[in-house]
Amino acid sequence: MQAEKYIKKVADIVERRLVNIISSSKIANTKLKESMLYSLKAGGKRLRPALMFACYELKRKNFKDILDAGCAIEMLHTYSLIHDDLPAMDDDDLRRGKPTNHKIFGEGMAILAGDALLTDAFYHILSSNKSVPIELRAKAAEILSFRSGSNGMVSGQAADLENENFKKRKYSNIKLRTMLNYMHTHKTSDLIIAACQMGAILSGDRENFEKLGIFAQNLGLCFQIKDDILDVTADKKKLGKLGSDAKNGKLTFLTLYGLEKAKKMAEISYEKSFEALSALKADKENIDTLENLTKFVLRRDM
Ligand code: IPE
Ligand code: IPE
Ligand code: MG
Ligand code: MG
Ligand code: MG
Repeated sequence: MQAEKYIKKVADIVERRLVNIISSSKIANTKLKESMLYSLKAGGKRLRPALMFACYELKRKNFKDILDAGCAIEMLHTYSLIHDDLPAMDDDDLRRGKPTNHKIFGEGMAILAGDALLTDAFYHILSSNKSVPIELRAKAAEILSFRSGSNGMVSGQAADLENENFKKRKYSNIKLRTMLNYMHTHKTSDLIIAACQMGAILSGDRENFEKLGIFAQNLGLCFQIKDDILDVTADKKKLGKLGSDAKNGKLTFLTLYGLEKAKKMAEISYEKSFEALSALKADKENIDTLENLTKFVLRRDM
């Protein structure tokens, strides 16, 4: 299926389900509930659930069987954005076209909304998706925790913080390139790897598991290089965020390599991810959807 069509379909269904999950859950603190709903409802591309579902559909018919696992990765991703925007991190005022969570609810409640979304994500993987055997749900939870915790996304975010104002330090170019690759692989690729490999594991597909990991690693890198580029070049209204990398002295593909080289490097990662797709064992029309999502990541302007 065409990328925009698939993403729109997934986004509508995921958003409806997310609102339903939070609205119907017994969260005693109204402010906490509102804060969680606020960021979940703010939109977002829902790319991670779209990738999870497209990988699941390499072998199975209907992604709705794992809808709550898709919602879970979106909860976890949303937590990472709420915390990423905090004054102690990137100190951003706009996200998904709206004031950042802490601007509306205060820093303490924003931290707690993030904590709740992170923790609830695992509850929803394990307690829903009942047509999938519990061993596979447990495996999916293991993948997500490994890729998002201290071995994964959080390490990337820690490196991102430590590399702020890198220009003031006297690192060699080789050291900077290594640091940048480490950072982007962990802060962004890891969650994309989790999305794809969770889709595979939940469908019981072991033969494509490793190949999807290679695909997602490269796609994640392409995605984050584009994010670095858009931080400077995008129409801010369309992007829904203001772009704070320069203000924060961030180490990015743009600051290290310049615009033209960064664009080339995004293309190289795109080509590597595309190549990994050709090794997949599945029906062509199902691989097509993943190919289209990959093209979308490279050409996106939001
Ligand atoms: C933003 O991710 C954070 C990064 C990892 C670059 P997205 O660009 O997927 O954000 P939303 O979900 O669409 O808002
Ligand atoms: C964030 O990277 C990656 C996360 C794990 C949240 P960025 O800081 O570049 O993401 P944006 O640009 O604020 O969305
Ligand atoms: Mg950041
Ligand atoms: Mg940020
Ligand atoms: Mg960014």
